[in-house]
Amino acid sequence: MTGFPIYRPRRLRATENLRSLIRETSLSVKDLIFPLFVVPGENVKNEIETLKNNYQWSVDRVMEAVDEAVELGIPAVLLFGLPSYKDEEGSSAWDDNEPVQRASKAIKAKYPEMVVITDACFCEYTTHGHCGILTPDCASVDNDKTLPNLAKLAVSQARCGADIIAPSNMMDGYVATMRKALDDAGYTNTAIMAYSAKFASAYYGPFRAAADSAPGKGDRKGYQMDPGNSDEAMREIALDIEEGADIVMVKPALAYQDVTRRAHETFNRPLCVYNVSGEYAMVKAAAERGWIDEKRIVMETMLSFKRAGAKMIITYHALDVARWLKEQ
Ligand code: PBG
Ligand code: ZN
Repeated sequence: MTGFPIYRPRRLRATENLRSLIRETSLSVKDLIFPLFVVPGENVKNEIETLKNNYQWSVDRVMEAVDEAVELGIPAVLLFGLPSYKDEEGSSAWDDNEPVQRASKAIKAKYPEMVVITDACFCEYTTHGHCGILTPDCASVDNDKTLPNLAKLAVSQARCGADIIAPSNMMDGYVATMRKALDDAGYTNTAIMAYSAKFASAYYGPFRAAADSAPGKGDRKGYQMDPGNSDEAMREIALDIEEGADIVMVKPALAYQDVTRRAHETFNRPLCVYNVSGEYAMVKAAAERGWIDEKRIVMETMLSFKRAGAKMIITYHALDVARWLKEQ
């Protein structure tokens, strides 16, 4: 029979050039945010067992990683820190002499154009490993007592050069608190990237080993979101936007792509996804065994985040992705 089928989608799949003409989604090195872990001490470059090819760096050596990121054209880094001391409140989080603050200053001094994003949370800084101050019975994190500390932390990070502050502790009212503190201190141009839809996830396991931030007792289900909820994720994002968030986030990325797509369709704000440690570790473990093609799996995954509606991607694969994009 001639003329059947009339429309043959395969016509436009015949060559790479045809495919590239009709490709709807693209991935660029400019979409990437590279997470870095900074630690006290000197001359430290510790590979993180659970995050192969990622390292804990002392501030004097972290530039080795930043140099590479700059070389590859990566526009932003996200700094996490292990402090030199911990207490019940997590007061080292707003100490200008701790690793995140020092690294931030050093990076901005060498590369003023590099976007420095700082994680704003307390779990790495508290003795108990929770993301804020505990209630007297230690049963939960006291929201309103934690907020003033978040304000101090934001101002300290801004003072040390952070372009974007990224609060990840899921306290209610956190964005408004930080925005006001930043504005009052004169940092009106320091942006806030809110971890708005952050789910209580098993996918954070490898990170907690890397950042020494696992809760000693209990879990984070009292402040992070229940994995069953998508309507609530929209309410969380709406709240953060009302409070002044410049960028909003869905985290983890892979298991929550429906939330990303919905957020993209619902809100007119730059949207970030966090391709978290557990997602990375699964790929690395399978690749090591030769069970998957790492490069193809990773590039396909990155593209899927863009297709879902993410504008930017935080990923431990950032350097590899940047290299692979150059090869293409
Ligand atoms: C701290 C924080 C976590 C992650 C980013 N910031 C861990 C947590 O909430 O327990 C997870 C990142 C990852 O798994 O890659 N609040
Ligand atoms: Zn935390």
